[in-house]
Amino acid sequence: MSSALSFLGLNASQISPVVQGWYPPTRENWELIVYFWQFFPLLTAAQWLTDFYPQGKTSIDSRLNLPGKPAWALMESTGFLTVLYCMLAIPAQTNTGPLPWANWTMAGAYTLHYLYRALIFPWAQPTMSPIHPFVFLSAAAWNVLNGLSIGGWVGGYGPASEADWAGKLYQIEVGLVIWGWGLLANMFHDDDLREIRRSALRRQRERAEREGKPVEGVEKLYMLPKNGLFSYVLYAHYLCEWVEWAGFWVVGGWGCVPARSFLVNEVSTMLPRALAGKRWYVEKFGEEKVAGRKAVIPGIL
Ligand SMILES: NC(=O)c1ccc[n+]([C@@H]2O[C@H](COP(=O)([O-])OP(=O)(O)OC[C@H]3O[C@@H](n4cnc5c(N)ncnc54)[C@H](OP(=O)(O)O)[C@@H]3O)[C@@H](O)[C@H]2O)c1
Repeated sequence: MSSALSFLGLNASQISPVVQGWYPPTRENWELIVYFWQFFPLLTAAQWLTDFYPQGKTSIDSRLNLPGKPAWALMESTGFLTVLYCMLAIPAQTNTGPLPWANWTMAGAYTLHYLYRALIFPWAQPTMSPIHPFVFLSAAAWNVLNGLSIGGWVGGYGPASEADWAGKLYQIEVGLVIWGWGLLANMFHDDDLREIRRSALRRQRERAEREGKPVEGVEKLYMLPKNGLFSYVLYAHYLCEWVEWAGFWVVGGWGCVPARSFLVNEVSTMLPRALAGKRWYVEKFGEEKVAGRKAVIPGIL
């Protein structure tokens, strides 16, 4: 039985399914999830037709709105928790031996990213706009489905033994390097956006101190970011995240359909958002200030 279970002081009988057959999925159900998950880009067609996206820059006033930070933390936690649960529950359910170290490496990379995205990211944001339940539920569902797709693969329905990874060390190393640089670059550009509000808050505090007045909020202050890749594209943080998950796909290999779907599905939902975001920047700051910067792919789009 999986050494991960014994490491946690658990045995297989203590890992009961949350939803019989689906969470964790049986192999047949996992194959169905992976198959249909490839068609997610078709669902994003609506995003090309409307700029409606009640979160962040385009959040709306609604009585239903959820506070930005906790809602973000919750909706972004569902994915990595699902992957980790699959890593424990699938071997327990199928009564198979310990998973290969490369499976744990992929699960670790996924978890590391989402520990940052779900917990550190909202905690570090000076402010975050409210999130509508529509975005909250869509994002949480997206993360669970992606978590099941990836979690099933690394949980034993993909490679299940060291032999399955034989000869793939170079691919794993190259993929991890791409993944790591993508993650760092994504964090760098996220922080550049944060700095806009941090520095505005610092300036406001200094002014308020000088004038003996209370500090005004910086709730929805937006400026044009310009450091790093932001000098070429307005959504540099998105681009870096795509590089990161392209690296993750390299680790899993060409035939790793869940890693490919993850990247394709992210691009399909984030690309229309970046294009809509560019229209928002042009409307707010004017064509001249945007100065020919592309939305997300330097020189192209
Ligand atoms: N959205 C997605 O579908 C998606 C999917 C997967 C991964 N991600 C990743 O999640 C991270 C955040 O994504 P996001 O869509 O929320 O990005 P975003 O709209 O650019 O917002 C990121 C944060 O920066 C603030 N911000 C954005 N533009 C700003 C500006 N011009 N001036 C000052 N502050 C600004 C936002 O504040 P407000 O909240 O107040 O607007 C928000 O807190 C990114 O690293 C992205 O790669 C997003």
